[in-house]
Amino acid sequence: MIEQENSNQNGQGNKTLTTRQGHPVTDNQNLRTIGNRGPATLENYQFLEKISHFDRERIPERVVHARGAGAHGVFEAYGTIGDEPASKYTRAKLFQEKGMQTPVFVRFSSVIHGGHSPETLRDPRGFAVKFYTEDGNWDLVGNNLKVFFIRDAMKFPDLVHAFKPDPITNRQDGERIFDFINNTPEAMHMITFLFSPWGIPGNYRQMQGSGVNTYKMVNKEGVAVLVKYHWEPLQGIKNLTQEDAQAIQAKNFNHATQDLYDAIEQGNYPEWELCVQVMSDDEHPELDFDPLDDTKIWPEDQFPFLKVGKMTLNRNPQNYFAEVEQSAFGTGVLVDGLDFSDDKMLQGRTFSYSDTQRYRVGSNYLQLPINSPKTHVATNQRDGQMAYHVDAAQGQSGHVNYEPSTLDPLKEAPKAGADYEPQYTAKLVRKKIDRQNNFKQAGERFHAFEEWERQDLINNLSSTLAPVDKRIQDKMIELFTNCDPEYGRLVAEGIQKCLAEGNVSKGPIGNKHSDEAVQQAQEVS
Ligand code: HEM
Repeated sequence: MIEQENSNQNGQGNKTLTTRQGHPVTDNQNLRTIGNRGPATLENYQFLEKISHFDRERIPERVVHARGAGAHGVFEAYGTIGDEPASKYTRAKLFQEKGMQTPVFVRFSSVIHGGHSPETLRDPRGFAVKFYTEDGNWDLVGNNLKVFFIRDAMKFPDLVHAFKPDPITNRQDGERIFDFINNTPEAMHMITFLFSPWGIPGNYRQMQGSGVNTYKMVNKEGVAVLVKYHWEPLQGIKNLTQEDAQAIQAKNFNHATQDLYDAIEQGNYPEWELCVQVMSDDEHPELDFDPLDDTKIWPEDQFPFLKVGKMTLNRNPQNYFAEVEQSAFGTGVLVDGLDFSDDKMLQGRTFSYSDTQRYRVGSNYLQLPINSPKTHVATNQRDGQMAYHVDAAQGQSGHVNYEPSTLDPLKEAPKAGADYEPQYTAKLVRKKIDRQNNFKQAGERFHAFEEWERQDLINNLSSTLAPVDKRIQDKMIELFTNCDPEYGRLVAEGIQKCLAEGNVSKGPIGNKHSDEAVQQAQEVS
């Protein structure tokens, strides 16, 4: 048998530099050349292997959420959901027993810009959690904000195109963003959060998380409830004004990654409590919004936050690429007792994640240690690029990779409870939902903000809208007025003020471009 750690290298033990073929490298400095001034020859195998692997070091970035940081930790269940035993709502095993621990990996991210973009940009933040449960993996792929811009997955590529850099100038452009948004009134709630300090969390430790979309929990009897998930940071919440963010960016554009890494290295482990809101599984005609509409918050006084457990992040990745870059989360990754709802966004997302991961990481991305469940995996799926091992059961015949089989089948698992079997009778249509109510919660949010938050919101909207086409400005003012007349008036006045001061240059959303702001940033740096 060949020892992997081979020590046959001139007595230097396993620290000898080798090629990937295991050949000891005696010269890592010089190409083989004809004379010491070149030219080089084509049989420079050692060099060609080294450089061609380097040429392939990058995999495609995530199309969204490219910039991120990750950490490992543990989730501890309370055994209850609010005052009730967890089993009342769900048979998912990870929630049932008080003190039960499930390992987790979390990736935080910003959405729009590339892999090394500043972490101070105005952007939702991703909050994706992978639970390695005894029943296989559960991914809760959320954001820091509790609502989203759109409620139909059909619109997602257009939304992202509008926020990404202009295809000609390669710069993010408020005009393109508001050109899309002034035709997307359901985005007003999210826009109100995004342009306030909530659009720039101070760091990853001091922000909330939310599943945003509506899911279901199913109990042993096969009875489902609608559910929304929330992560509440025990470190408190910290958000930045535009000026705070610009001052940080002038000194450090990796501040959130650094903050998370340093806190964990110092043993200052960040913690979040997982809470759910639940609703019976029906359309709830008594509400002025649809419970499947992800542009809405479920009012906390009617649907209280019920505590489910606590997550602690206590270990940094050993290798950023292997663990953070190659990690792959998806909304379809659910365990028994947790289910989808009919939320149209959730259904669209569920196809998109594993589809992009087969392209971004490769068809065997689930065999990578960061993505692989920490439990029994036995499938009849085989081969494909970079297949590292066979997903077979121990002792399973190498001959039988199909099912059913008389010879050596993998057997279907027994059911853990009654099936949940919703019934549908409706026409197949392309239609918006009823009860859109696009403006009410946005107006309420505008009033609920503290004064400094409202002030920052108005400043950020005004400076972004001042340089855009007048038709878009007017339509946006109309939409803000629909949310609340004072909201519309303040944005209109803010735009006029920016125009009067000449603060009208285009740039990343919310950024101040006045001479005064540039001077402030220069003073800080
Ligand atoms: C990442 C699609 C809506 C949260 C991604 C990725 C895609 C995607 C393709 C890249 C995944 C990868 O390369 O591994 C979509 C679609 C959506 C949608 C089609 C709507 C129809 C949302 C919403 C949220 C969200 C509403 C918040 C709840 C995230 C997060 C990530 C992500 C956190 C990064 C996951 C990670 O850290 O690897 N999304 N998304 N997405 N999305 Fe969405």
